Amino acid sequence: MDLVHQPAQLRRACDYARARGLRIGLVPTMGALHQGHLSLIAEARQRADFVVVSIFVNPTQFGPNEDLARYPRTLEQDLDQCERAQAHLVFAPETTAMYPAGEETRVRVGATSQPLCGAHRPGHFEGVATVVVKLFALVGPSVAMFGRKDYQQLQVIRRVVSDLMLPIEVVGAATVREADGLAMSSRNRFLAEADRARARTIPQALSEAVRAFAGGERSVARFRALVLGPVSAAASSVDYVELTDPDTLVACPADATAGDRALLAVAARIGTTRLIDNVVLGEAEAPCAPGSADHSLDQRG
Ligand code: PAJ
Repeated sequence: MDLVHQPAQLRRACDYARARGLRIGLVPTMGALHQGHLSLIAEARQRADFVVVSIFVNPTQFGPNEDLARYPRTLEQDLDQCERAQAHLVFAPETTAMYPAGEETRVRVGATSQPLCGAHRPGHFEGVATVVVKLFALVGPSVAMFGRKDYQQLQVIRRVVSDLMLPIEVVGAATVREADGLAMSSRNRFLAEADRARARTIPQALSEAVRAFAGGERSVARFRALVLGPVSAAASSVDYVELTDPDTLVACPADATAGDRALLAVAARIGTTRLIDNVVLGEAEAPCAPGSADHSLDQRG
């Protein structure tokens, strides 16, 4: 496995791989790698001959009051994990290499980036789209892997690829979860022990919604209530619990009934850590087994 830090080195290595007839797969990450990231690398290995992993904590997708400074940076362990996952090339640039002095261009996505996290993190998806397009331009991948855990991000990238006519297949990979259902995230390490127990309320509530959907429930208001009740009891604040069209992310009106598929998405702060999760009703398995709810939370003061 090779490690490069300069955009020009990345471009050269990828040009060379393509010239040898290899199909390139790209897995963009911000590091602090876990099983979710590794599943993307494994999937990329299935779909490409030459797998590039980028590790870059992208400053333009963090708001001024967000956790850029405390975002975990664990490059040594990340490189070990990439090596074991059999990536071919890791790109780990400095910020100034991706955003040299004088740069001023941004990729702005329309309606897909507005609701859900877009409404709570102004500029976030502009930063994501900008850095991902730069990576696409350097690597020239045939296929790029993104997790469904960041469902809106996946849809934003699909939109960018379609609108900018980029010849890249975007693959959305299933959310990898801890044994108790909590979606793996680089930010889970910030959860204090008591918060860790509260955090599992999110997948448990989504699981109740999946089971209700399977049982025939279609009321949008009912799904929101099913999730908002337990999550607002466990969270220090809730950014949103929203039912939307899974492709356009347009919200379903509260008095409507859900169709055959609907995205149910949550963002909440557990302690000081902001977590997101989602299921697509009509597609997803429940993240947690029935009856796994932890009633010790009810005794919380
Ligand atoms: P990061 O949070 O490091 O995530 C990198 C990729 O891993 C994303 O596609 C994300 O959806 C996926 N991922 C994270 N947790 C996952 C899980 N539990 N199961 C499956 N996939 C998971 O997302 C970003 O970085 C950045 O915004 C980035 C796209 C790299 C642009 O800076």
